[in-house]
Amino acid sequence: MSEKVITCTLNGATLTAISGQSVAAAMISHGERINRTTRIENSPRGIFCGIGSCFDCLVVVDGIANQRACITEVREGMTIQTQNGAGT
Ligand code: FES
Repeated sequence: MSEKVITCTLNGATLTAISGQSVAAAMISHGERINRTTRIENSPRGIFCGIGSCFDCLVVVDGIANQRACITEVREGMTIQTQNGAGT
């Protein structure tokens, strides 16, 4: 099976990824360790469980907040943004 390179954006910057990667993996491969900040204290959060259970990895995908980066697959043209607070 051959790998397909896809292009999306992270906070407005071009991000290349391999099809089948999670958003989290693509972000980490580009050095981004902070996915979101908490609602009340604005504390940074990144990948913790990596299996969709803890919700620490929430990001905004294609304008929709609260998407778990660790279980969301990157797609060509996807827009990814780190999330501030509740993301609303
Ligand atoms: S890292 Fe725990 S839900 Fe994504």
